[in-house]
Amino acid sequence: MADLEALRSRALDELAAACDDAGLAAWRSAYLGRQGAVIQVLRRLGELPAEERRVLGAGANALRDALEAAFKERKTEVERAAAAALEAGGIDVTLPGRRGLVGRLHPITQTERDMLAALGAMGFQVAEGPEVEWEYYNFDALRIPEHHPARDTMDTFWFDYRRDGRRSMLLRTHTSPNQIRFMEAHQPPVRVAVPGRAYRYEATDATHEWMLHQVEILAVDEGISMRNLKATLTQFAQALFGRDRPVRFRCDFFPFVEPGAEIAIQCGLCGGAGCRSCGNEGWLEIGGAGMVHREIIENVGYDADRYTGFAAGFGVARVAMLRHGIDDIRHFFSNDLRFLRQF
Ligand code: FA5
Repeated sequence: MADLEALRSRALDELAAACDDAGLAAWRSAYLGRQGAVIQVLRRLGELPAEERRVLGAGANALRDALEAAFKERKTEVERAAAAALEAGGIDVTLPGRRGLVGRLHPITQTERDMLAALGAMGFQVAEGPEVEWEYYNFDALRIPEHHPARDTMDTFWFDYRRDGRRSMLLRTHTSPNQIRFMEAHQPPVRVAVPGRAYRYEATDATHEWMLHQVEILAVDEGISMRNLKATLTQFAQALFGRDRPVRFRCDFFPFVEPGAEIAIQCGLCGGAGCRSCGNEGWLEIGGAGMVHREIIENVGYDADRYTGFAAGFGVARVAMLRHGIDDIRHFFSNDLRFLRQF
């Protein structure tokens, strides 16, 4: 009986020290489990004389019942303490969850859409053309024959593939081949905007990438003149940059237009004084333009005595840089999320 008493007080001491699920489980198996201390006592009863067995058996059963009851009580205590700790620990289960990351439009896509919306408001429809292009549409049909120096300004990614031994394919170096493609497939009047990627095998710097996005503009109709070109492109530029932003037209040469022009916007970072992002020019060239060459009007089968037109090609990244004050074009496709999440 004295052993049973010692067992009870040891068990209750240890139970009081158990303060989590693992401690409770270990205690239960040590005292009340199949190999536990109480069972060991009950097993030894058979060795005792009948009278002692009766007394001790009743004592052991009472001990087991008392330990079961103590265990239940302690378990409830431990659970309550854990719940209280959770509440006190500052976990506010009523707070809303964290939002998952939602995708957004790339700044180039945003600017491209704004450009197309501005053109759409002026009556231009949108069309697209292939990125893998024939040499014919990218160069020859635009009056840039082989060995023409204008080919040197657009270093080209060529494919080895030659379909009939003469014509080859390339990654288009500009969106201008779509002028030809669209005119071949449609009769005037034409007012079309063609967005898309172009590729140039050239070294990159703050204003040049080897992959670029352009928006091509083409308008062909009776009586279209340089005045329409200037008015339309100025209105387009001011729709993007605001009416106060200076726009500059200067003479430029492209074999597929005559006369040709370069369009520049005053640099917003330096206000025209010259800085790194505008290459110290004060102006950033955003596109080329000009009156569609008469020979091209003729070659697509239009009546060149009746129809004239203007065309332009804008760099989307240059526009985005000017609008957001971005000083290096290479940010756009370096896939740094810290940059992209700002837009
Ligand atoms: C052209 O690509 C002509 N097709 C534009 C044109 C269309 C002229 C219709 C006349 C009539 P250019 O190579 O200058 O021209 O490029 C036009 C614009 O594309 C540039 O003003 C610039 O904004 C952008 N651009 C050109 N090269 C790059 C480059 N490597 N990286 C980023 N943008 C570029």
